[in-house]
Amino acid sequence: MKKITNFIAVFALAAIFTSCNQNDEGEKSGAMASSAAEKVYVSPGEHDEYYAFLSGGYSGNLTVYGLPSGRMLKEIPVFSQFPTNGYGYSEETKDMLKTSFGMVPWGDSHHPDISQTNGEIDGRWIFINENNTPRIARISLETFETEEIIEIPHSAGNHSSSYVTENTEYVVAGTRFSVPYPQRDMPIDEMKGNFKGPLTFIAVDDDGHMEIDFQVDMPGFNYDLSHPGRGESHGWFFFTTYNTEESHTMQEVNASQNDKDFIAAVNWKKISEYVENGGGEIMDAEYVHNVFDHDTQTTISTTKNEVLKVDPRDIPGAVFFMPTPKSPHGCDVDPSGEYIIGNGKLSSDLTVHSFSKMLDAIDNEEFDGDAYGIPVLKFESTLAGTVKDAGLGPLHTEFDDKGNAYTTFFISSEVVKWKVGSWEVLDRQPSYYSVGHLMISGGNSRKPDGKYMISLNKITKDRYLPTGPELEHSAQLFDISGDKMELLLDFPTHGEPHYAAAIKADKIKENSKKIYRLDENNHKYAALNEGETKMVREGNEVHVYMTTVRSHFAPDNLEGIHVGDKVYFHVTNLEQDFDVPHGFAVIGANTSELLIMPGQTKTITWEPKKPGVWPFYCTDFCSALHQEMQGYIRVSAEGANTPMKWGLDDEYTSN
Ligand code: CUA
Repeated sequence: MKKITNFIAVFALAAIFTSCNQNDEGEKSGAMASSAAEKVYVSPGEHDEYYAFLSGGYSGNLTVYGLPSGRMLKEIPVFSQFPTNGYGYSEETKDMLKTSFGMVPWGDSHHPDISQTNGEIDGRWIFINENNTPRIARISLETFETEEIIEIPHSAGNHSSSYVTENTEYVVAGTRFSVPYPQRDMPIDEMKGNFKGPLTFIAVDDDGHMEIDFQVDMPGFNYDLSHPGRGESHGWFFFTTYNTEESHTMQEVNASQNDKDFIAAVNWKKISEYVENGGGEIMDAEYVHNVFDHDTQTTISTTKNEVLKVDPRDIPGAVFFMPTPKSPHGCDVDPSGEYIIGNGKLSSDLTVHSFSKMLDAIDNEEFDGDAYGIPVLKFESTLAGTVKDAGLGPLHTEFDDKGNAYTTFFISSEVVKWKVGSWEVLDRQPSYYSVGHLMISGGNSRKPDGKYMISLNKITKDRYLPTGPELEHSAQLFDISGDKMELLLDFPTHGEPHYAAAIKADKIKENSKKIYRLDENNHKYAALNEGETKMVREGNEVHVYMTTVRSHFAPDNLEGIHVGDKVYFHVTNLEQDFDVPHGFAVIGANTSELLIMPGQTKTITWEPKKPGVWPFYCTDFCSALHQEMQGYIRVSAEGANTPMKWGLDDEYTSN
């Protein structure tokens, strides 16, 4: 009972901190308003300096913002169906959402991370994890489209993901919930010692293609967040754990009994060599791997049935635990790779481990026992320092290019700047309110950029006009180029922005694709000019090969379709100009519209229910005569013998 009382005390304190911030908020924002406005003003026609990619949380998507303006540029559909362009509905993209549980139309996206070369973000791709039905997606930064989604077998709550190593050798996925491994029917209260926490290492090749290389069979703790080593510590990956108590119920109390949980240090280079030399054991798995093939503009979906499991106890020197106080959440590595910061979320201190001290402690076998056969290093042996009394409820840390670190404090609702090496607190700024992650461009790399920081806040309350009980979350932009952080801007985010990644616009805007070339369109059902348009009946399936160009469809009159048919409209956009999409919508369709980019072919299905003459039209205002971009489909009763014919401008073809 005493423990429960302590908890109530912590949360009561949280309420006090949060309400304090609310009280000073009015004065502060007024005083700084004018110079801040100049710093974020991007005049009409000018471009932002950075692209920021914010996780869309429970929207399942990734949103793109310009910085410093805070203007939302795009929502990229990833794990959720997206009627705005037909992603996840169209025949070409619906298999992107296939999993071993069937088609999952929704996801919970968390942590985006940009690909790296030599420890610097390179702007080729961005990865993001899905927490609920464990998956990792790769999005092209040429097309800003999701190109690949791989499911993570044996994982549950894919939270400590999707961080990449410094040459994008691997992207990782750790299980948040420990589970039976492999899954099986067993009593929940027999969890302890029987559940496991597999960590999955997914190899990424030069074209970005992902394949699961191995899974590390770890004890049944909860693996919360992770970051790769870099520089000297390249070759290692660090994961925070909580619930080392292995409790299965009332975890807000029972998972907080141990004074320290662990940061797991995983020497993936060593494990990778072990695997290359034939180590590990094949185990059954069931997972789906979906790749969007640009040539055919269609998803290729493959179900796989095995994975390579490694037992870390078979590989001396592969995995160690570093005790870290108070249920650590964030696990962040500084740009040099020497310091690993564990933020105990029930603590006021930050624990900093030293990578070089860790190596010495391993050499000298300074162990404090083991956990399920994995050596536990002595706390003092790896400790580099402690940032004392920095705030309450530390969560995440990022770094600038001047040797400073920035940590978010959820309970005391602030961002605290401190010096790496001397561990002294240099500055603190309130966040409005209850900040989770924060982001500095290149923050997970050797070369972070010290200009802006954004805090990604969990609670919005009074920051904007109320929109009923449901409010968007909020991000705040800070200028971090000076000694003190300066709050510049609030902007709402779509879905919960768990984490974000940003890159200078210069690094990607030249590569950004403007059209899909028609002469590269190898879609099976493409009509590359109006002469190739047609209707083909195969039993009760009708394939319509249709084209769009400003401002008509070909064909625009179709007859010979019957109730009971399944009609596939394969629509090719013949335009080859930037920013001229056409849309396609047909009355009563049970999917969404299509938005077809220049040179692309997309397919919608339609099962007419009622005889009649039914319209279709273009959904995207494409020209002065957009409103005329429309057509008719004659639908006859089931069993009627209306012949098939199709045409444009009263020139019909039939068969
Ligand atoms: Cu085509 Cu509107």
